[in-house]
Amino acid sequence: MRHSWQKEAIIYQIYPRSFQDTDGDGVGDLRGILQRLDYLQALGVTVLWLSPIFASPNADNGYDVSDYRAIQPEFGTMRDFDELLAEAHARGLKIILDLVVNHSSDEHEWFRESRKSKDNPFRDFYVWKPAKSANLIPSEGIKPATNVPARDEVDDEYLPNNWQSLFGGSAWTWDEATGEFYLHLFVEKQPDLNWENPRLRREVYDLMRFWLDKGVDGFRLDVVPFFSKPLTFPDYPPERFADLSAYANGPRIHEFLREMHDEVWSNYDALNVGEGVGVRAEDANLYVSESRRELQMLYHFDHAVPRDEARFLDPAPEFSLVQMKQITRRWDEALGDDGWQSVYFGNHDNPRMLSRFGDPVRFPYESATMLATVLLTLRGTPSLYQGDEIGMTNCPFEAVNEFDDVQVRNAYDALVRRGGGDEAQFLVAANRIARDHARTPFQWDDSPNAGFTTGSPWLKVNLNFGQGVNAAEETAPKSILNFYRNLIELRKRTPALVYGHYRDVRPDDNAVWLYEREWEGETWVIACNFTGETQEVELEGEVRFGNYTTGATSATLRPYESRVAFQKKANS
Ligand code: GLC
Repeated sequence: MRHSWQKEAIIYQIYPRSFQDTDGDGVGDLRGILQRLDYLQALGVTVLWLSPIFASPNADNGYDVSDYRAIQPEFGTMRDFDELLAEAHARGLKIILDLVVNHSSDEHEWFRESRKSKDNPFRDFYVWKPAKSANLIPSEGIKPATNVPARDEVDDEYLPNNWQSLFGGSAWTWDEATGEFYLHLFVEKQPDLNWENPRLRREVYDLMRFWLDKGVDGFRLDVVPFFSKPLTFPDYPPERFADLSAYANGPRIHEFLREMHDEVWSNYDALNVGEGVGVRAEDANLYVSESRRELQMLYHFDHAVPRDEARFLDPAPEFSLVQMKQITRRWDEALGDDGWQSVYFGNHDNPRMLSRFGDPVRFPYESATMLATVLLTLRGTPSLYQGDEIGMTNCPFEAVNEFDDVQVRNAYDALVRRGGGDEAQFLVAANRIARDHARTPFQWDDSPNAGFTTGSPWLKVNLNFGQGVNAAEETAPKSILNFYRNLIELRKRTPALVYGHYRDVRPDDNAVWLYEREWEGETWVIACNFTGETQEVELEGEVRFGNYTTGATSATLRPYESRVAFQKKANS
């Protein structure tokens, strides 16, 4: 396997809106990130992934871009960005940006042009379809302005197909100006770009080069498997809409990614990571095998929280440890020595990992550090999410209007307001699965608003900042943050933890995750207790790291205990 800095990287995802506000408007900004670079450097991460910082009307918090070459004004200016990049580089930190080019905002110049007329030069930058029934629009003799029906007069039967938006409702919106529908796999303010159009693709490669030439170190590619659509736009059986692969892996996706590689990646020593939504393990190497020259790595959704609309009344049970191990094995085997992935337990699209897999009430320190141990010792480039390193948890939302996320709001409209579902039940579900849990402001200290802002925060601050869940906990005897720092150190100086083969020692054990990483005659054994009870394990080797300071030699793992032990194989 080829070694590279991308594989050795430790990514830290920043959600800029919620990281640090410096101008008192309640929204995080670039100068806030700048101010916290020393913190990030001391943590030891090597790559900062910034969720979108481009101009956006915020229909989906920046994942709806209206200008790919401009900084979102509420985050700052291009000068702020240049300074941030230079200061990050001066500290040995790289920065990757979030490339959201499956769709743009409907306020992007391309879309404003595209919707003007059917012969506009930008028409084909988006996916337009006529209504299904020819009767809707008599084609001869009548001028469009007089025969195009208004939006509320167009019935569902005229929709080009039955595709559903991932955020609820039809994936098609009728546009009166030209009397056609446009496609949006997300909300209607996120029209899908038409990757079939070579001019659009050239524009995308250009804007990527614009940022890479500035010195940016790469991109995370938003919903990359959705870029290519099946050109027949077939109806799908309704049950497929809960399945993320319905829209993924279209017929030309690999052609597009190879082209992007040749046009862009091949000229830069950059990092790229695809959001592997809807990619199955068996197909992963089609994207990331080195010989295919497409992407370097992607991250899968097999352990992500199922969050399609129906789940907001009926959430799926959490994955068991045995299921997590199965998923991990499946991906590790499928990637083999040829492919690579990024591993994560939380991001801006999932609830907090500590609330999902740990016990933030009884064992906050032990379970947060145990989860960190797994995250930083699996094979793959780890991606940490802001706040996990200080033990941030899901936030109790007391009413539906406290949520901000468009997905929650759309699901509420569909299921409760229009569908008559039970509001209390909805609230319970959203409190488990909503994306907002990951988006509450970063908790820096115990001053007002957790030190995030002097103004009024755009999203509720989790009140547990006053109970020690904040970055000032580094002075406590049991500090999650210090544990992360030391563990990151260990990973950085231990190639076996980056490149070593993964072997699941007890696949059927639902309490302890016990695995080995083997590399050039060295074996590291990692044992993690996923329960609040003691567990017995046979653990050979010298314990080099763990989250309990004493008594790490017995065969008993205490609640949420994690250990990393080293064995030298005599015969190799
Ligand atoms: C990706 C992003 C998510 C966003 C969606 C639409 O899944 O991670 O936050 O809502 O794409 O851009």
